[in-house]
This record gives sequence, C-alpha cells and structure tokens, in this order.
Amino acid sequence: MHIALQGCLRANTVEYGITSDTGGHIQYLMQLVSASASDPRVERIDIVTRAFDAPFSAHDYRRAEETVNAKTRLIRLASGKPEYLDKEALHTELDDLTAALNAYIARAPRRPDFIHAHYADAAEVAAGANACHGIPFVFTAHSLGRVKQAHGGASDPAALARRIEYEEGALARAALVFASSRDEAELQYADYENYDPGRIRIVRPGIDSAAFRDARPADDAHALLARFLTEPDKPVILAIARPVARKNLLGLVRAYGQSPTLRERANLVIVAGTRQRLADLEPELAENMRALFEAIDEYDLHGRIAYPKQHRAEDIPAIYAWARERGGVFVNPALNEPFGLTLLEAAAAGLPVVATDSGGPNDIVSYCDNGELVSPHDTDGLATAIERVLADRRRWGRLSRNGRRAALDYDWHEHANRYHALLADLDAAPAPAPVSPRARLLVCDIDGTLVGCRTGVRRFNAWQAENDDVVLAIATGRSFHSALDVLEQAGIRRPRCLITSVGSEIYHLADDGTTYRRDHGWVHRLAANWPRADIAACVADVPGVLAQSPLEQRRFKLSYLTGDDPAIATAVRRRLRREGLKASVIHSHGCYLDVLPLGVSKGAAVARLRDRYGLPPEQVIVAGDSGNDAEMLRLSQQSIIVANAEAELIAYPGLTHAYRARAGHGRGVVEGMQYFLGAGVRAS
Ligand code: GLC
Ligand code: MG
Repeated sequence: MHIALQGCLRANTVEYGITSDTGGHIQYLMQLVSASASDPRVERIDIVTRAFDAPFSAHDYRRAEETVNAKTRLIRLASGKPEYLDKEALHTELDDLTAALNAYIARAPRRPDFIHAHYADAAEVAAGANACHGIPFVFTAHSLGRVKQAHGGASDPAALARRIEYEEGALARAALVFASSRDEAELQYADYENYDPGRIRIVRPGIDSAAFRDARPADDAHALLARFLTEPDKPVILAIARPVARKNLLGLVRAYGQSPTLRERANLVIVAGTRQRLADLEPELAENMRALFEAIDEYDLHGRIAYPKQHRAEDIPAIYAWARERGGVFVNPALNEPFGLTLLEAAAAGLPVVATDSGGPNDIVSYCDNGELVSPHDTDGLATAIERVLADRRRWGRLSRNGRRAALDYDWHEHANRYHALLADLDAAPAPAPVSPRARLLVCDIDGTLVGCRTGVRRFNAWQAENDDVVLAIATGRSFHSALDVLEQAGIRRPRCLITSVGSEIYHLADDGTTYRRDHGWVHRLAANWPRADIAACVADVPGVLAQSPLEQRRFKLSYLTGDDPAIATAVRRRLRREGLKASVIHSHGCYLDVLPLGVSKGAAVARLRDRYGLPPEQVIVAGDSGNDAEMLRLSQQSIIVANAEAELIAYPGLTHAYRARAGHGRGVVEGMQYFLGAGVRAS
C-alpha cells in the first residue's frame, strides 16, 4: 500500500502541473507502481490518497476508488474538509485520514504486507496504521524540509517546521528509508536528529532512457536554435535548467564568455524554461534571466549563444540529440544539485557531461564515467573541463558510449527489482547468527582487493558460498552507502559488518537481517579528540593538497587528493605537529590522503570488532591492497596482501609476517584464506 496525500492523483493520465503539488513525486510514484505491478510476486497494490472537490478539473477527485490496472487500485479517503488543499494546509486532515485508513484496513479482505509513505505527511498517517495494525512502513521523502530551510526557501516557516517534525518522526519510525542518491542519504539527511544511515538505502530511480537514447535532432529543434547562431554547426555546450540562482547558469555564461578557446570552438545553448514576458515570471526567475541577458551583452556573445524563449517538452530529447550530433557537451553548473536528472538524460542521449561536484552529479558522473566534475565555485576550472571534453575526439566517443550504457541501469524495472528484494528481506531475512568466539572473521578491503577484476569477484563469491561459516566483514575507504552499492553490484553477500570511511565508522547488520546499526560507542570515542575545523584549516594551507568532493568529507574523515608527490603526507604530518594538532594521516594509491582522529585506522576498527565479538586474534584474517590497509595488515596476526598491491604498501614497515598472495584481487583473497584455513586456524 502506497500513501501519497498531496496534489491530484488519478488512475490514468495524471494532470501534471494542474496544481503546484501535482508534479515530480507523483510521477515517481506512478512509474514505481507500474514497474512494481509487473512483478509476478506482487499480488496487489493500493494507492491511498485524499478525496476532495476540484472545481478546477473535469475529473471527479471524490470518487472512492479507481482502477489503475489489474492489480492496482487507487483509494480515496475522505477527511473533514471537502476542498482541495495545498500541501502546507493538509496537516489539519491527517487525524481524519489516519482514522479512515485504519478503518479501511480493518475492513479489507487482505491486509497489506507493507505501507510505503511518500512525503512527510503520508508518513504520519502510515505511522498511525503501523501503531494500530502493526504493519511495517517504509518511507520516501522525495525532498527534504531541512534542505529547503538551508536554502532559505521558507515562505511559510510554520509549515516548514511542521514538515521537518514529520520527517523526524518518519526517520525515527520507518523500517527502511529510500533515497535516490548519496547526496540525499549521506548529506541531506545528516542534520536530522533521527538520522540513522544504516536504515537508509539508495535505490536509483528510473528514467525513460529510450526517449533520449533514440532521439534524433529533429527539424524543430534545429529551427529553434540555429536562428541564434552565426555558425550553427559548431560543437554545442548545452545547459537545460530552470533559471533559479542555485542552477548557476550565469556561472556557465561567464566561463564561456571568459574563455577565448571556448568561444572560438563552440556555441553555447541555454534552455532555461519558457517565458512570454520577463515581468510575468516569478521574481527569482526574472531576476536571473536579466542577469543572463546582461552577461551575454557584456561578453558580446551574440551569434554564439542560443537561449530560446519557448520550447515544448517533446523538443528536449531532440535538443540533446542536436548537441550530440555536433560533438557537444552537456553542462550542469549548479551550486547545489541534490539529484541531477538532466545529467542522466544527457547520458542516455550519448552526450558527455561536465558537472559541478555537488552531491547528485558526483554520484551520477562517477557511476556513468561519462564526463568531468569541477568545483562549483571555479569558473576557470569549468571552462577548462569543457575544453578538455571537446578537444579529444576519441575520449569524447568513449564518454558518450559509457553514458549510454550506464543510463540503462537507471531503469524502473531494475528499481522495482531492488525495491522488492529489500522489502522481501525486511519481511523474511533471518536474524544474523551471533558471532561465537570460535567463529572466523574475514575482514576484507573492497577496491583493489575484492573488486577490480571480474574473475576475482566470481572466484570470491563461489568460495564464500562454500565457506559460509566464515563471517565476512568489510573495511573500506568508501562511505557506508557507497560501499553497499559496489558490493551489491558485484553480487557479494551482505556483510555482517562494515568498517567504512577508513575505519572512522562501523556498522553491524541488524536483527532484521537487512538494515545496519551504527556503532555509536565508536562515534563517542572518536568525538572526544577531534578538532575537525582546526585540522581542516591547517591541512588546507599545505601546498599541493586539494580537498576531495564534499561527499567524501565525513564527520571523522577529512579527505584530499595529493597528485603524485610522495613527500606530501610527511608535509601534512609536519604541519599538523607544528600547530599542535593530533591526527592520523593515511596516504594511499599514491594520490589519496585521509586525515582521521589520532589512532584511527582500519586496524583500530578491526580491534574494536574483535572486542565486540570476543574473538581471539587468531580467529581474524584481514586482506588488503593499499596504504589505507597498512595498519590493519600490520596489526593483525593473519594478513593477506593481494598480488596487485600498491607500491606504498609493499614499502610499509612491519608487514613481513603477511601472506603475499601470488594471485591478485579476489583470487588472491581466496588463495590467502586457503593458506590460513589449511594452516590450522579452525572453527569448531
Ligand atoms: C575511497 C574514499 C576516499 C579515500 C580513499 C582512500 O576512495 O572514497 O575518500 O580518500 O578511499 O582511503
Ligand atoms: Mg583498496
């Protein structure tokens, strides 16, 4: 059972845009439901919404029931007020709706197995059904009140405060929370009091990639754009975004205007919504359009830039195709972008991208490997990244193909499969068996150790299936959600625990066998001695270190890129010492630098796991390939170094006891395990 209370929901042909709440989240819901219904394991779907009078539509929004398809029905519940209400006004109806829903469920011939609440207000009602009938509920926020608050967008502060309170309630009570991106799971939610990353799962939403993949550069698109341009056949730098300040279209016009190379090589096309007269636009939109016009004039870009006044939704795929045929690049210059749907559309259309390194785009570009990320505040950097993508035709072709291929994974059926698998696990996965002091624990790094070679992954998975008495834990530099994502892609079984962000976070599989519990004791221990802001300021002063993207900066992990200067770690340590700041500095792959609270490493986190499970040292085996594994390999009695290990690890002192596998990656791990298990480390 899905609950979605806002806007105008109907079984077919939703009237998108008829009210300001009839938009993206309804589309998401309808696409999810349609993919979900096509799975034979799903018996029935009810979508519950509110009944209201809608004098503005010919449709009857009071009807108690509509049929969506053979399995799916739309149920409308009445509340006290008969009229249509905006989302800010719905709160007065939630008690009525909860009572009506509880009565409906009590009467229904079959109780739903799960309730899925969409948006914070629906979570209030779902929690009421959970309290009354014990049906577990899951939650998708669609967008978050705290993010809106941080961007100063509160026209109605009381409504926003209420929404945030509902979101807190949802986070506290939902069995599982669905997010669309790492940005949402790891940054947007992080400021909530009830933030519990172990119960949040990222399930990529689908896009209609076929529409973009198969699009041709139609005559209409050509007519729309070519009339602006003196040389319309030049490569195109394309941006498509509403003209709100956050989208930073002005930054792109500046980057283009200031770069003689770009102005010479390419045209700029900006599709910024539609308008009749500027004066009729909402103030923010009008103001941003005015600033764009001024910049175009200032840099004298006439004949090089197209900014059509009007376009139809169906022109968009053809515009991407038009840019692709010209060997162009799509640019998302946003200062802050929670998801970045246009980047996926561009990927599907085979158009390489340049995007600012801000949450959503970071996720998409690193997954699709179809372009470059640049800092949102670096105008020159934006221009040079675009130049690079346009300059190298072979690379352009590779990025184009990568994007097309990866965009296929953003598919609603794929989404529904993962969604159902998670629900099924919540329902039926067995509680993890307690780790006995005699169990054997394998703690394994991910990148370059478990993954990085397909045969290795297959070999490891086959070995694991036959050795399920060995408890698997992960120790990685990645964040928790990023780690779960790669493990799932590689088909590796859900680990019993994860040490993430280079030892600064620890998660244990919960009793539902599906979600994870964060190790709070570890958090408290680290928090005691971590002057994060001082350390960040100090490291920023060291020449040659560059901060990694905001997503990689964690509460107890500051991360940098160092180029290939091997002395840089020493320089950072020296600088910290001079300032009297204590921290652990870990250099890996010759280019990553992680700064953590003093004494923290994957090795320290493994010791914590051992304590927690009461395991003697001889029951624990660790495996790794790079500098961020060094401490864990040094501190453990039984260590496996895979054959493809990095130079910095080979040179690390204190590793003579380690088993050096002849094979690389997953095959090396299996080889090492066979060595240690055969050598008499036994579980009984
Ligand atoms: C992973 C992390 C990165 C870290 C690196 C080395 O790639 O994402 O932040 O610096 O591991 O530990
Ligand atoms: Mg590694």
